[in-house]
Amino acid sequence: MTNSETKATLSFSDGSPSLEMPIYKGTVGPDVIDIRKLYGATGMFTYDPGFMSTAACNSSITYIDGDKGELLYRGYPIEQLAVNGGDFMETCYLLLNGELPTAAQKTEFVDTVTKHTMVHEQMQFFFRGFRRDAHPMSVLVGTVGALASFYHDSLDINDPHHREVSAIRLIAKMPTLVAMAYKYSIGQPFVYPRNDLSYSANFMYMMFSNPCEPYKVNEVLVRALDRILILHADHEQNASTSTVRLAGSSGANPFACIAAGIACLWGPAHGGANEAALDMLTKIGSVDNIPEFIKQVKDKNSGVKLMGFGHRVYKNYDPRAKLMRETCYEVLQELGLQDDPLFKLAMALEKIALEDEYFVSRKLYPNVDFYSGIVQRALGIPTSLFTGIFALARTVGWIAQWKEMISDPEQKIGRPRQLFVGSPTRKVPPIAERG
Ligand code: CMC
Repeated sequence: MTNSETKATLSFSDGSPSLEMPIYKGTVGPDVIDIRKLYGATGMFTYDPGFMSTAACNSSITYIDGDKGELLYRGYPIEQLAVNGGDFMETCYLLLNGELPTAAQKTEFVDTVTKHTMVHEQMQFFFRGFRRDAHPMSVLVGTVGALASFYHDSLDINDPHHREVSAIRLIAKMPTLVAMAYKYSIGQPFVYPRNDLSYSANFMYMMFSNPCEPYKVNEVLVRALDRILILHADHEQNASTSTVRLAGSSGANPFACIAAGIACLWGPAHGGANEAALDMLTKIGSVDNIPEFIKQVKDKNSGVKLMGFGHRVYKNYDPRAKLMRETCYEVLQELGLQDDPLFKLAMALEKIALEDEYFVSRKLYPNVDFYSGIVQRALGIPTSLFTGIFALARTVGWIAQWKEMISDPEQKIGRPRQLFVGSPTRKVPPIAERG
């Protein structure tokens, strides 16, 4: 942590002496006040449910400027990475190592990832233990956690080589596990990875080929999937990333930590919004029904929200949404679905919402989920797997953040405090005297 000459002085109206605390400056973004000594000096904690004003770590991986609508991976704007920055493998390398790879580094990285795509043959028996109608996210929480019982040789978190091998294993095996979860749910045989294909093409192949019918790789669709992966690869200290860090802070192995991240991502307030946005469009049904729907959204008692709109951090157009909209257009064009009624409806809804005073005054703009559901549906991915694709993409972000945390000398086991509002000490009465 950079030392700072600047200090904040905290004064108390109850007569306690005032307190000086250091202020640290990041390279961009808000400064932070170091309150670590607050409790020792005053006996008080801070109160911040939802971490609205609390930086729980320092990080040099991802930065969001919510007012500008800017997202940077290691300093590079997401628009440049998605358009000129090569494929998802380059984004993975960047997030993990801090720099974009040279051509030789990329070849070596892709080669290493490719050689780890198969999962232990025994894993298929884990899958067979699940009901066929199990939600893919429950299957992924279980099977990713189970990887720890197969790869004992990379579990020493204090060994940098072990950490590296685990990172590669997770990135390489996630597509295989997500595709296996899908195949199991539809009763088709598992498809082994093909190492002559790119990361995204191999995933599409494992999803959509079967022994009777080989899958013909379509480059436009592969590029679309690759973009989905790039756009979802990391997003600062969101709920699932913070979960991975918290789990990892106790020294838990990386497979267990990523399984914890997947469990958190599963929640509808986090990873499930693209599914909800697609459901919403289906329910609205036609452009004619938009005014009535918007009326419901504005009515606080209706409980209806415009899904795929608004964001805790972005108070401007989510930069990922613009790119996803572009991809949506490309994919529908490629598949001859330009007249897809849901896409048309989404564009009409977006236009109306962006001009409506309710949304403008609250700075509610489309987020990435507004269009990603339409793209995934067009790729043939079932709705229940949308969050699984998100988990697949986010694995590299989680593992990069986990590695950064383990190497941080200031890292401590995460242990939030509380404002206790329950009963103070009392005596256990005999059962006959209770009630
Ligand atoms: N539709 C209608 N009104 C909304 C919406 C929406 N989607 N989002 C926020 N508002 C209103 C909200 O009712 C409040 O109004 P008022 O000031 O009159 O009480 C105002 O806008 C401020 O909203 P907030 O609830 O304080 O904002 P938040 O930062 O707590 O919530 C959010 C952010 C993403 C949970 C919320 O915007 C939302 O529920 N959006 C829909 C779900 C969605 O699309 N989620 C995906 C997020 S992007 C995925 C990712 O990055 O991981």
